Amino acid sequence: MSRSPIIVRTVPALRRALDSLRAKKATTALVPTMGALHDGHVSLVRLAKRRATKVIVSIFVNPTQFAPTEDFSSYPRTWKADVARLAAEDVDLIWNPDVKTMYPDGFATRILTEGPATAGLEDRFRPHFFGGVTTVVGKLFTQCRPDFAVFGEKDFQQLRVVTRMAGDLDLGVKVIGSRTVRERDGLAMSSRNVYLSPDQRRAAPELYRAMKESALRLRAGDDIKAAMAGGAELIVGAGFTLDYFEVRQAETLAPIASANDGPMRILVAAKIGTTRLIDNVAV
Ligand code: PAJ
Repeated sequence: MSRSPIIVRTVPALRRALDSLRAKKATTALVPTMGALHDGHVSLVRLAKRRATKVIVSIFVNPTQFAPTEDFSSYPRTWKADVARLAAEDVDLIWNPDVKTMYPDGFATRILTEGPATAGLEDRFRPHFFGGVTTVVGKLFTQCRPDFAVFGEKDFQQLRVVTRMAGDLDLGVKVIGSRTVRERDGLAMSSRNVYLSPDQRRAAPELYRAMKESALRLRAGDDIKAAMAGGAELIVGAGFTLDYFEVRQAETLAPIASANDGPMRILVAAKIGTTRLIDNVAV
């Protein structure tokens, strides 16, 4: 039987709720989200439940990771449906602060990360992004002090950045990566897929197909440049504008000089119309 999760919106209420969870000697896992939950998010919750006795999900659309030109105000917000989904998954606690709670007047601190955060992928096209993500995730970790935190491989650079940050700052949280959940046609689930028109939706799985094709060629020992150019051509042919389509060292996200630098990861970001999609696969 599923119980309704406890919903808290202030730091003192969060603290009380966590104290009562921990009084039962629970281990806790945090799943940070911006809501508009889909099966990808739910898969993270299920992995969290396998790792810890209590699961906390945060729902906070974080303004500091959006540029002024981006979709902060129109980002999908589906609170009631989100709570129902989390209740069905038996989540224990939903942390749902408002912007003023997370960023009180005068807020003046930012966590600055390098390494994977300056790999020249998302950071090249969204220079504000990782400063916003690391600051909010740093806050979520110190507010919730979870034993584990689960992040999706869907946002592969984010996963690497957050893992590095948790280790570098001794935050005492073990970051766990969870595999990407896809629609039947291969499109990675994303809260932003609702922006796609029917035509764009039909073209969108081409991203995954192109990455798989290039991965296959790389595994077969093809020339790296040729294998990547072939994939990029497929994506542009499907009507996308490419931000990047690259193969990188999977741990550091450094560029690959030869197949011996592996394990490798192919990462893509591309726009179709005004919607920007990102995805990645292992080679
Ligand atoms: P959001 O886009 O809501 O994603 C929350 C988590 O769900 C992230 O760890 C993301 O990688 C994961 N996720 C998204 N789509 C997925 C899919 N198809 N399969 C598996 N996991 C998927 O990422 C963020 O929010 C924010 O940047 C956040 C970390 C919450 C900080 O604000």
